[in-house]
Amino acid sequence: MSSARARAPKVEEGAALDRILTLELARTTERTAVAAARLRGRGDEMAADRVAVDAMRSELNRLPIDGTVVIGEGERDEAPMLWIGEKVGSGRGPAVDIAVVPLEGTTICAKNLPNSISVVAIAEAGSLLVAPDVYMDKIAIGPGYPAGLVGLDRSPEDNLKALAAAKGVPIEEITACILDRPRHARLIEAVRSTGASIRLIGDGDVTGVIHTTEPDETGIDIYLGLGGAPEGVLAAAALRCIGGQMEGRLMIDRPDKMERARAFGITDPRRVYRLEDMVRGDVLFAATGVTDGNFLQGVKFGRNQITTNTVVMRSSTGTVRWIRARHTHLDKFEG
Ligand code: FBP
Repeated sequence: MSSARARAPKVEEGAALDRILTLELARTTERTAVAAARLRGRGDEMAADRVAVDAMRSELNRLPIDGTVVIGEGERDEAPMLWIGEKVGSGRGPAVDIAVVPLEGTTICAKNLPNSISVVAIAEAGSLLVAPDVYMDKIAIGPGYPAGLVGLDRSPEDNLKALAAAKGVPIEEITACILDRPRHARLIEAVRSTGASIRLIGDGDVTGVIHTTEPDETGIDIYLGLGGAPEGVLAAAALRCIGGQMEGRLMIDRPDKMERARAFGITDPRRVYRLEDMVRGDVLFAATGVTDGNFLQGVKFGRNQITTNTVVMRSSTGTVRWIRARHTHLDKFEG
C-alpha cells in the first residue's frame, strides 16, 4: 500500500456506497426521462407512463442493492410492475427502500407542458413511509424558517400570515402553489381572501413542493392542498436533502381505504406526518426533467446526442448536484 493511501481517511463502506449510488441514481432517472420524452406531446399518457416504468425498472435492477419498492406504481395486482413490495436491484448490496414515480405528470408529458419529471429516492430499509395510493393533504415551505411555523392543523389564513411575518413581507407578496382542482375551491378562496397570490398548477406536485425551496427563483413560497400520497413521500425525500418543512395527512375517508392503510401498518387515519416521519433516515433523491420546467429543463434530442438535466441530492451531506449530461452513445437509450 502506498503511503498516500495509508494516510487517506477511512471511508465507511456505507458512505462510499452512498456516494456511488448517487451517480447511479442519476443514470436511472436520465434513462427513464429519455424513454418518456420520446412520447412527449403524443397525447398518450398511458404509453408514456408504460415506457417510463419499463425503463426505470430495468435501470433499478442494475443497481448493487437489495431494494424493495415502498412507493411505486400502485399496489400488487393493480400495477404490472414497480408495485409496492416488489424487489428490485441486483440483490447484492444494502437493503434499501425505493420510492419511484417514473413519470411524474403523465398528462403534462402527453401534452408537452412544463414540469414533468422522472423521480426516484432510495433510503435505508424501513425508513420511508409506506403510503397507500390515496390523497395526502400537504403543506410545505422552504428552508430558513423557524420549525413549526406552518401546519395542517392551522387555517390557511393563519399559515399565510405567519409565513409573511417570518419572511418580513406583506402577505400580498406571498405566493401559494395549489393543484387546480375543484376539490380546492374553498382553499383557493381562503388563500385569496388574505390577499396572497396563487400559482395554480395542472399537475405535478412533487415539483410544486420543491419549488418552495427556491422562492426567489420560482416565485413560490408555500405549497398547499391535496395531491397523491406517493408524490408526497417523494417530495418529502427531496426536502430532507435541501431543507424545508412539510406536513402530510393521508386522506383515509372510506372504510376500504382504511383497510388498505391498515395493511401498510397505518392505524391512525388522522395522523399528521412531519418530514421526519415520512423519511426517517438518510435518503438519496434524483430527478431528471422530461419536459422543460423552471426546476429542471427537459430532455433535448439533438442530431447525434441527447442532453439531460438532472438533480441528485444526499440528505447525509446536504449536497445538491445539478448534472447536465450529454449522451452520444445513443444505443444505450434504445429499447
Ligand atoms: P400523474 O403523473 O399520475 O398524472 O400524477 C400527476 C399529479 O398531478 C401528481 O403530481 C399529484 O400528486 C396527483 O396527480 C394529483 O392527483 P389528481 O390528478 O387526482 O388530482
